Formats: sequence, structure tokens, C-alpha cells
Amino acid sequence: MSIRLGDEAPDFVAETTSGTLSLHEYLGDSWGILFSHPKDFTPVCTTELGAFASRKAEFDARGVKLIGVSVDDIDSHNGWIGDIEETQGTALNYPLIADPERVVAGLYDMIHPNANDTLTVRSVFVIGPDKAVKLILTYPASTGRNIDEILRVVDSLQLTANYSVATPVNWTDGDDVIIGAAVSDEDARSKFPGGWTTVKPYLRVLPQPNK
Ligand code: BEZ
Repeated sequence: MSIRLGDEAPDFVAETTSGTLSLHEYLGDSWGILFSHPKDFTPVCTTELGAFASRKAEFDARGVKLIGVSVDDIDSHNGWIGDIEETQGTALNYPLIADPERVVAGLYDMIHPNANDTLTVRSVFVIGPDKAVKLILTYPASTGRNIDEILRVVDSLQLTANYSVATPVNWTDGDDVIIGAAVSDEDARSKFPGGWTTVKPYLRVLPQPNK
């Protein structure tokens, strides 16, 4: 059974490069991002792990804890992280789960047999402080992820969790936002006393409320 938005992120206990941990305990009250890598000692994965490490401060600033998973074992991971540091210029600074039994991969439906029947695809799960899954991305092994896009959706998720707004196409933090479709004009007047621009009755635009 695959995971859907709003489902509780399945908990697990796993061996990682930072010791054995439970996902839910590791995340605590923070936001989290669980992301899978098909295999150790592979080129795209090496660049991705390095990029997540070098930009960890941007995730920290948003209260987001990172955790990666790859189906190889802990000895393999410990060998690979030396290569990541050497080639990407950054030490691994978040846990990387060893998942040789495919427990995490199975729980999160990260193996897509029509792509590869033993390796995971590149999944991203953004998990909220309530442990609910807020966003799911799935990339093939041949396409590395975009850290800017992952930070952008975290910004949108965190904004829309706190304000009755939605973010339009290509929005980035600081751009104008849209009043959520479920909010009546009457409710909007009390929520957004500074007003908004009505482009269409269903398209009401206003400056980002927390800026
Ligand atoms: C890579 O990271 O480059 C990769 C991993 C598994 C399959 C194909 C590519």
C-alpha cells in the first residue's frame, strides 16, 4: 500500500551512519525530509548527498531535519562517505540509513519494479511536525534532484500551514500569494485586513503575509 499525502509517515528503527535511530524520535517536533538513493558508490547519488550536506544550514534554518536512505549496508556507507567528502568537499552531516533488507524501502514504496526491482528510485518525503506526509516527489535514478526546488516547497508548505493562502506557479519566498479557494471574502477580510487584489473572484492576490 503506497503512502499518500496526509498519511502518518511510517516509523521504523534503522542502523544509520549516525547510529541506530527511530525515525519519529529523530524527527521529534521538527519537520523532516526522508530521501532515498538507489545505490552507494554511484555518480548522481554522490553529488546529491554532497549537495544536501553543503546546504544543510538552509534546512536547519527552516527547522527541517534531513535523513537519507540507501539499500547498501553500513560498511558500504562508511566507505562511501569518505568519497563524498573527497569529491563534493563536504562531510556527511545528517544520518544515512543502511537498508540492506529493504525495510524502509518497502514501508515507503521506494522500489518501483518497472524501473528496477532491487534498487530504490529517488524518493523525497517531506514530513510535518505532526508526522503527516506533506509532499512526495519521485525521480528516476538517472535524474538528480534539485535542492532549490526542495527548499522552495518547504517554504510553501510552512507558509500554507500557518496562513490561509496558497502559492502560485514558480512562487518563491517573498513573492505574492493567493488567498485559499476555501476562504470566503468575508473571512478573508478578517484574516487579511491589509486587503488584496481581486484578479478574478477566484483569484485573489496579496503580498506574502509574514513578510
Ligand atoms: C547514480 O547515482 O548515478 C545511479 C544510481 C543507480 C542507477 C543509476 C544511476
